[in-house]
Amino acid sequence: RTCILIGAPVDSGQRRPGCLMGPAAYRVAGLAATLQGLGCTVQDRGDVAPAPVGDVSCDNAAVHHLSETIGWTRALAEAGQAAMADGMPVFMGGDHSLSLGSVAGVAAHAAAVGRPLFVLWLDAHSDFHTPLTTSSGNLHGTPMAYIAGRAGFDAFPPFPATVPESHICLFGIRSVDPAEGAALYDSEITVCDMRVLDEFGVVVPLRRFLDRVRAADGLLHVSLDVDFLDPAIAPAVGTTVPGGTTFREAHLVMELLHDSGLVTSLDLVELNPFLDERARTAQLMVDLCASLMGRKVFDRPTRGFV
Ligand code: ARG
Ligand code: MN
Ligand code: MN
Ligand code: MN
Repeated sequence: RTCILIGAPVDSGQRRPGCLMGPAAYRVAGLAATLQGLGCTVQDRGDVAPAPVGDVSCDNAAVHHLSETIGWTRALAEAGQAAMADGMPVFMGGDHSLSLGSVAGVAAHAAAVGRPLFVLWLDAHSDFHTPLTTSSGNLHGTPMAYIAGRAGFDAFPPFPATVPESHICLFGIRSVDPAEGAALYDSEITVCDMRVLDEFGVVVPLRRFLDRVRAADGLLHVSLDVDFLDPAIAPAVGTTVPGGTTFREAHLVMELLHDSGLVTSLDLVELNPFLDERARTAQLMVDLCASLMGRKVFDRPTRGFV
């Protein structure tokens, strides 16, 4: 399997500088060598640069860094679509606004090859604002709405092929703004919030979603936001929310994703190395990536029960 690392040093989607150091932190933490150790062929295509975009405006005065974010969206969509033809892109972020571009590129590829695209959003947040509903003005809170085809993205390139709501699963969420909640309520998006995971664990809800992907012979994009994890184990993120997934829950999600064989692209987003403690969050993200690519606690087909 070929993994294509794409650096996306995006910082324009929120206000706390530091996510731009994410790609460097993943490289220092040994992401490429880790994946090679698991038998992957790894190609690091370096960091993408934003496409030049002139001044654009938006009816919501709170929105900031709009042109820059549109520039990233264009450049990452192009890099992502190209990478999909050659292997599995791993987007090393960068804040979550990078997914405006990464998923656009993946969706364009899916449409070109005639396969349905599914999206698994591992996040504390639903990121379902449009540029018109966000009150923070932080565009990292909007990619899910862009992917699902909500109106309000007029300044952005048209999303190549809207992902149907029934192909989207938000997993681990525990912070939803009122405007997002209202829009989600009226949608068919699967919402496995932390309450669902507390009650059923991660296995059953995730398996249900993966069954849908498999039945449709779909491509699966996974977007992993650092704040999916509990802040106690992953402090290096600007938007911590208490009550996140534990170390083992997160690894189990990755292990199940690996066993499914369905994942075709991945975002690693919101790591802010400036906020980290001796690189523990960067290292944890690399280890989760390793579980997704097949690292096992004990590698024998049967474990002696079942
Ligand atoms: N809903 C909040 C906002 O729009 C938080 C978004 C956090 N998003 C993220 N990708 N960390 O400002
Ligand atoms: Mn700035
Ligand atoms: Mn997010
Ligand atoms: Mn988040």
